[in-house]
Amino acid sequence: MSGKEYPISTEFVQQAHVTPEQYDALYAQSIRAPKQFWGEKALKFITWFKPWNEVLTGSFEKANVSWFQEGKLNAAYNCLDRHLETRANQVAILWEGDDPSEVRKLTYAELHEEVCRLGNVLKKQRIKKGDRICIYMPMIPEAVIAMLACARIGAIHSVVFGGFSADALKARIEDVDCHLVITANEGLRAGKTISLKKNVDEAIQDCPQVQRVIVVKRTENAVPWNAVRDVWYHDLMADAPKQCPAEMMDASDPLFILYTSGSTGKPKGIVHATGGYLVYAAITHYYVFDYHAGDIYWCTADIGWITGHSYTVYGPLLNGGTTVIFEGVPHYPDFSRCWDVIDKHRVTIFYTAPTAIRALRREGDAWVTRAERHSLKLLGTVGEPINPDVWEWYYNVVGEKRCPIVDTWWQTETGGAMIAPLPGAMPLKPGSAAKPFFGVVPAVVDEQGHDVPAGVMGKLVIKQPWPGMMQTIYKNRERFIDGYFKEFPGYYAAGDDARCDADNYFWIVGRNDDVLKVSGHRLGSGELESALLHHAAISEAAVVGVPHAVKGESLYAFVVTKADVGISEQLKKELIQQVRRLIGPIATLEYIQWTDGLPKTRSGKIMRRLLRKIANNDLKELGDVSTLADPQVVDNLIKNRIDLRDV
Ligand code: PRX
Repeated sequence: MSGKEYPISTEFVQQAHVTPEQYDALYAQSIRAPKQFWGEKALKFITWFKPWNEVLTGSFEKANVSWFQEGKLNAAYNCLDRHLETRANQVAILWEGDDPSEVRKLTYAELHEEVCRLGNVLKKQRIKKGDRICIYMPMIPEAVIAMLACARIGAIHSVVFGGFSADALKARIEDVDCHLVITANEGLRAGKTISLKKNVDEAIQDCPQVQRVIVVKRTENAVPWNAVRDVWYHDLMADAPKQCPAEMMDASDPLFILYTSGSTGKPKGIVHATGGYLVYAAITHYYVFDYHAGDIYWCTADIGWITGHSYTVYGPLLNGGTTVIFEGVPHYPDFSRCWDVIDKHRVTIFYTAPTAIRALRREGDAWVTRAERHSLKLLGTVGEPINPDVWEWYYNVVGEKRCPIVDTWWQTETGGAMIAPLPGAMPLKPGSAAKPFFGVVPAVVDEQGHDVPAGVMGKLVIKQPWPGMMQTIYKNRERFIDGYFKEFPGYYAAGDDARCDADNYFWIVGRNDDVLKVSGHRLGSGELESALLHHAAISEAAVVGVPHAVKGESLYAFVVTKADVGISEQLKKELIQQVRRLIGPIATLEYIQWTDGLPKTRSGKIMRRLLRKIANNDLKELGDVSTLADPQVVDNLIKNRIDLRDV
């Protein structure tokens, strides 16, 4: 299990920010004296209007950790203004549209001006510090401008992934209680249009608090218009002043809220505070990607996800980089798209998800080798475990054995990469996220919270606070405490299973709760089940994950219909449609097994652990079934299980 090792080339090591010795020394220092370490780094990576009183206060025990208290700063100022003296004419955003012929470049000076203008537009709409703004946009420069304009005036952005449905958008708008939504008339994806504005209209039908919708014109197609509520972005921007002071924000003021799925209940609004988040996004971007001035950096993540926040927008801009914003998809116009983008823009760092790598690998090497890829120097992956075979393909074929791969483990909640090989500082092991970042103390523990020996699987916890950690769950401190700090008092419980080998390399196995990862997208069993239960014919449902060669996991649903309802192919189609409508196309059920009942404990809790084993045909060791209310249910479920397709 300690795996094959790949050393980093001498050439790479010579220019890397951190050597192996430096990593060991810096890591030890960051753990021994975290306040000193983070205080120094916060000054190096971020410009403060006023320094903090205390680097770190609070504890995991009390779930009241706070970073850089009383420090004053502004995120947009740090991403833009402070670079103007030296980088005004450097490209900040390098945008390529869905159609490869569409390219836009915005320098730091231009991006600064746009952000200031939009900041003024928002102020004119009576948006104040602390107000929440929902951004539901395609991957176009205006999406980044919107995020930074919010940050500039102290509004809290809540970006909702453009692939979420109107219902999912509505739930997020309601929870975050915003008065203004920024969207586009349509999005474009693989040549097809996506009706974003129409979804917004539908979402806010019953949300009277939304009084204004600002619409970017991305396509020429007309969309329904409410003259009282809707305004064109470009009309508002035309006469907006170019000067907009950056609001003084407290380090603990929220910068953004981003919704993510938990195992139960509705998606939770993860709140990130300005100070700690920015320090952590900047420093991790710099070290993990071995970022150097002049790099052309491309993270394929949509801004609707945390990876898009930290490593498409904030990290690279904080470090004065050129960040590629890509509207398209890897298979359009053909499977060479990513490699063509890399050649065209001389991309040096490429960061994507295992699901995309698996999909491209399946199409064969010729799509890759057709492109040169000479500019590439580093590759990255995030979001789910990467299988060693897929890692090797990425390394050998895409990176031509010359580019280190940084397999970065982290979460929406952690704000930035937590476990990742620092390239240059350690050899790589395919399938392992390697070692902790500075200041991060991960451990693998048993049910009682004791460290397990090397090589043994257990639950992943983090033992010390780090600056990127979430501040709370929006309007739900109780869920914040219960979800992360209750299981192992004094530790942050990550919700993942992992092993740590004798070389102190971490191997992430997957979630140990009811959170699923489909094509790298995080979905909760609970929300999928609620979506199914919305159908009048359904009385009970449980959804689990089963392996899928490209998506990583796909969705297997066990469904109980109401007594008077017959099962049919038509009903199956309706259920699939319904879940897609309520959540979005990322939530497409792959298998539906009809059943008369679900295995439940005597207290009525669905035993998803058992269902997972049944769906996966892993029947040898069903575990403790003594608490089952009706053991007969299990036999029936096994008898009628669906054979997984060979995908
Ligand atoms: O299960 C882990 C998996 O993704 C989860 C977090 O999902 P999300 O909040 O959507 O953030 C994803 C992007 C940061 C984790 O609990 N995960 C993330 N990165 C890895 C991973 N699993 C294995 N290896 C990784 N590198």
